[in-house]
Amino acid sequence: MIGVPNHKPSILTVWSCCLPREKMATATSTCEVEAITMPEFDRKSELKAFYDSKTGVKGLVDVGVTKLPHIFVHAHKVKLPEKSVCGNSQFSIPTIDLEGIKKDAALLGEIVEKVRDASEKWGFFQVVNHGIPISVMDEMFDGVRRFHEQDTETPAANWKDTTYCVMAPQPPDLAELPAVCRDIMMEYSKYVLKLGLTLLELLSKALGLDLDHLKDMNCAEGLFVTSHYYPACPEPELTFGTSSHADTGFITILLQDQQGGLQVLQENQWVDVPPLPGALVINIADLLQLITNDKFKSVNHRVLSNKIGPRISVASSLRTHFTEEITPKLYGPIKELVSQENPPVYRETTIKEYFTHYYKKGLDGTPALSHFKLCK
Ligand code: OGA
Ligand code: NI
Repeated sequence: MIGVPNHKPSILTVWSCCLPREKMATATSTCEVEAITMPEFDRKSELKAFYDSKTGVKGLVDVGVTKLPHIFVHAHKVKLPEKSVCGNSQFSIPTIDLEGIKKDAALLGEIVEKVRDASEKWGFFQVVNHGIPISVMDEMFDGVRRFHEQDTETPAANWKDTTYCVMAPQPPDLAELPAVCRDIMMEYSKYVLKLGLTLLELLSKALGLDLDHLKDMNCAEGLFVTSHYYPACPEPELTFGTSSHADTGFITILLQDQQGGLQVLQENQWVDVPPLPGALVINIADLLQLITNDKFKSVNHRVLSNKIGPRISVASSLRTHFTEEITPKLYGPIKELVSQENPPVYRETTIKEYFTHYYKKGLDGTPALSHFKLCK
């Protein structure tokens, strides 16, 4: 795959503009960039030069770029006034303390209420006392840093360098993971899967379903661990770390360092998700919105670029494994959640069809989910 240097293990796939997600991330800005700044021909050669360098965004920072190459400029940032950004506390995503859920039934009821409220209103919440030791979280940051700061070639991506790794259902062969982050990748993933199952139980209860309902639908069968390294950006006002998107799986468990920059769209405003030491950010992703028939919301979010860096984050996505060829499992609104008054909003789809559509569609401003709506 383009941008993956030979010495890097094949299991770690680098997002680059030839890959669906990255193509998506640059698609909207690309046409606008073309309209105001440069012809397609220049964009192509700039992209090629960037790929050929195989040093990633960090490589650009290392050689001291002070002006962003055109391919990173999101023209709508230059042309349009930003929606107001709100970072004050009266309007912020909830933090939920998971302490004691296994022991205290009354407490569990309260936590389920909070999870329901956050998942319906925000699609986002933070959790503390989630069972992942701080030392494991810290070591995960260090592992990502070690990987991206290796002396030799680094992989190419957008104004961030990203790697992802499929950790479940089939964990990778240890030898395929880079030595600098191998052990912590395995350890962190085990904790995340365990927390993922707890969260699915809370979400099932919040939907009024049996504890195991979402687990039994295989929502935690697959785990994708995506590690982002956002280098310092010389012109953060012209680009994004990650442009606006909704996530693909059922839920995402995000570990972010203390730098900040993550924002979620709420009532047409971009709201900061402030880093909380020891906390993890949880968000509802598209497939959970689909199976809950719009009860829980998969909300757009983005990451701002920053003059200070690097920022490190790790997004772990719970999803179902791609086994459609063998067992074409269909996902649609959960039967218990639909009624005559609340008819299904979506048709059934397979995971494969959903992902194919998500990646093919690109960032055209429409949510991937609308493709599966029964009444468009
Ligand atoms: C993602 C994502 C946010 C971050 O990987 O889908 O939204 O803080 N990441 O890096
Ligand atoms: Ni995301």
